[in-house]
Amino acid sequence: MRFLPLPSGAVRFIIIATVVLLAWLVWGTFNHPEALWAPGNLSRFHADIADCSDCHQPFRGPTANKCIACHDYKHFAAHSRPAVAKFHQQSITESKACSDCHTEHRGALAQITVGAMVNPHGEFVFRATGTNSCSACHDLSAGVASQANLLDNATVRHLMEEGDGAHRPGNMANCLRCHTGGRKDVEEEEDDD
Ligand code: HEC
Ligand code: HEC
Ligand code: HEC
Ligand code: HEC
Ligand code: HEC
Repeated sequence: MRFLPLPSGAVRFIIIATVVLLAWLVWGTFNHPEALWAPGNLSRFHADIADCSDCHQPFRGPTANKCIACHDYKHFAAHSRPAVAKFHQQSITESKACSDCHTEHRGALAQITVGAMVNPHGEFVFRATGTNSCSACHDLSAGVASQANLLDNATVRHLMEEGDGAHRPGNMANCLRCHTGGRKDVEEEEDDD
């Protein structure tokens, strides 16, 4: 095996290419960090957060301290059910890693709580109804892993009226059975069950 010498000019070309690439990385890091570095889009809950450093600590990744800046002791007391508040206040005191149970960068419609109740509707339910959380239609106060109690509110009533008679109680959990491919319009009449 013999190696040919690099053609003249090649070294210069490699240097220029490297400089251009680095410049692009630096430019992209400051202008479009999400596109360049983030593993996926933020959830709808956090989509408005402009700064990666609101959640990420340099060289350490996402840390509880960052999350707690927004979700502090008082926030849980004011916004959450007593059991959820108490549990999280304890997590804060014990500096538990929030990312043990919460994810991010799985896309705008993803659930960010691990172990939360499974969603039998697919993300279609949010897209089709303009809602953005399970609690828009369900009372989850009995706990995340329990049965879904349907609320009697305007959102649910409106949904039940929309199906041209097909939206009937007991028949609704699997939206995609009728809304094939996640389409809002249903082409042919579907029989129940
Ligand atoms: C700059 C402020 C800010 C930071 C930092 C922040 N959040 Fe949030 N978070 C919000 C807002 C605003 C919402 C939506 C309103 C609400 O539920 O309070 C939200 C919602 C949530 C929800 C509720 C999701 C649901 O299903 O209802 C969870 C869980 C959550 N954040 C976890 C975290 C974790 C974990 C971190 C750190 C990695 C974090 N947040 C960092 C502002 C923030
Ligand atoms: C052991 C798992 C676990 C850990 C650790 C954890 N969470 Fe949660 N978190 C949950 C669960 C489960 C829920 C959903 C509770 C519900 O809706 O019943 C939740 C809900 C939330 C909510 C929404 C509160 C509400 O009332 O809707 C926020 C905000 C949140 N977590 C932030 C955090 C932050 C910040 C940390 C770190 C300090 C953290 N969580 C640590 C499991 C956890
Ligand atoms: C709302 C808080 C939040 C914001 C804002 C956020 N991240 Fe994250 N990021 C997380 C969490 C939480 C994880 C852990 C992922 C998981 O366990 O699902 C993560 C994981 C990552 C990872 C994978 C490596 C690691 O540290 O785990 C990268 C890379 C990343 N984020 C980049 C970014 C960039 C770039 C931005 C800004 C455009 C950004 N993130 C904004 C919360 C956030
Ligand atoms: C726009 C309203 C709406 C939203 C948002 C919604 N659901 Fe539902 N959910 C329904 C309706 C309607 C039913 C069916 C009730 C029936 O068939 O009688 C249902 C049924 C269920 C069931 C019972 C399934 C079964 O087989 O009996 C579970 C579990 C459930 N939903 C969980 C969730 C979860 C988790 C989320 C959030 C990720 C969610 N839902 C969001 C409207 C909604
Ligand atoms: C048994 C079949 C069936 C099931 C299950 C079903 N739908 Fe429908 N849905 C229909 C029919 C039929 C229509 C009306 C036909 C049309 O508008 O094309 C409709 C209409 C709708 C509309 C109005 C669409 C528009 O363009 O105005 C929405 C929104 C909707 N459904 C959401 C849902 C959601 C969310 C679920 C699950 C929680 C669901 N549907 C479950 C059959 C069903």
